[in-house]
Amino acid sequence: MSDTYRRIALARRPQGAAVLEDFSLETDPMPTPQDGEVLVAVEWMSLDPYMRGRMDDAKSYAEPVEIGGTMTAQGVGRVIASKAEGFAEGDRVTGMTGWAEHAVLKAGEIRKLDEGTPPSAVLGVLGMPGFTGWRGLHEYGRPKKGETLVVGAATGPVGSMVGQLAKSMGLRTVAVAGGAEKCRIATETFGFDAAIDHRAHGDAKSLRAALSEAAPDGVDIYWENVGGNLLEAVLPLMNTHGRIPLCGAVAWYSGEVGEANLLPMAWRSILTKRLSVDGFIIFDHWDHYPAFLKDVGPRVGQGEIAYLEDVAEGLENAPEAFLNMLKGGNTGKQVVKI
Ligand SMILES: NC(=O)c1ccc[n+]([C@@H]2O[C@H](COP(=O)([O-])OP(=O)(O)OC[C@H]3O[C@@H](n4cnc5c(N)ncnc54)[C@H](OP(=O)(O)O)[C@@H]3O)[C@@H](O)[C@H]2O)c1
Repeated sequence: MSDTYRRIALARRPQGAAVLEDFSLETDPMPTPQDGEVLVAVEWMSLDPYMRGRMDDAKSYAEPVEIGGTMTAQGVGRVIASKAEGFAEGDRVTGMTGWAEHAVLKAGEIRKLDEGTPPSAVLGVLGMPGFTGWRGLHEYGRPKKGETLVVGAATGPVGSMVGQLAKSMGLRTVAVAGGAEKCRIATETFGFDAAIDHRAHGDAKSLRAALSEAAPDGVDIYWENVGGNLLEAVLPLMNTHGRIPLCGAVAWYSGEVGEANLLPMAWRSILTKRLSVDGFIIFDHWDHYPAFLKDVGPRVGQGEIAYLEDVAEGLENAPEAFLNMLKGGNTGKQVVKI
């Protein structure tokens, strides 16, 4: 075993959009597990949009990463030294390893994985993002057969789960995605009834015209991943008693809010259309994770629920892959193979 390991640290707080110089690659002495801990060699690491928020020194549902601290991430790896009961060398586990090649984790903070599950899927379709789509759709979307659902970032792990579940429940599903290729993937791989390329529409009005063609009966569920132009385009198309599970707003994560003043429009739509808007953070819902795995695990295994992964190779390439994902450069769940 090497006596050092590498990690990616937050070098400084981003000003607006994050850039490569906001990260640094550090080499530190290999940590040693204490009683109740294991040392994990990380094999796979997740990159998720929420990590952009952790780079800012802003009050949120989770603490920001400290300057010099390791960027937060869920990872999958093998135990290479154990001082924890119930974990042995060679066990494959998942936990919050951070952007790092090795991590010392407490036994209570990791979960042993069964060897039959593809390890990267634990970070996407069968992990936090897939679970987010499943839980949020059932709890806050309250889908009914014959209704219409619109979702942005539709080929990502959250959007593709939402679209496929809604389709399997008899809804009309409309994807909004960046570029012709992602639109093709949305319909051909994920079974959306229609797909709209938001990059082909310069403003919300033009996007709205395309959406109203794709959703001729209006929108009953708008799954909010994006904010920005898409929110402005969809709101006037919402049907009375529509639902908006507010999952994310990736278009705004870099601090740019655009020109439109959406608040009066949004507030008034919520009132006049009697909309339900539920902001939720999946970390409050982990008690439902076993039910998710029971429902979705076999459907993924049988190929009924499809998933795509975008694999970056090597820890040193994680910052570039992360910035690329925030701009829509990923196709499918962004993971890093360490
Ligand atoms: N509430 C929760 O607990 C929770 C949990 C997990 C995820 N989330 C949120 O769910 C959303 C999707 O996450 P994910 O992991 O599935 O991400 P993802 O789809 O893999 O990646 C983000 C995608 O956002 C899209 N995007 C970026 N900028 C955009 C813009 N200006 N306008 C429209 N689309 C833009 C891009 O897709 P296109 O190229 O297709 O535009 C990009 O690929 C994010 O907002 C995330 O923060 C929330």
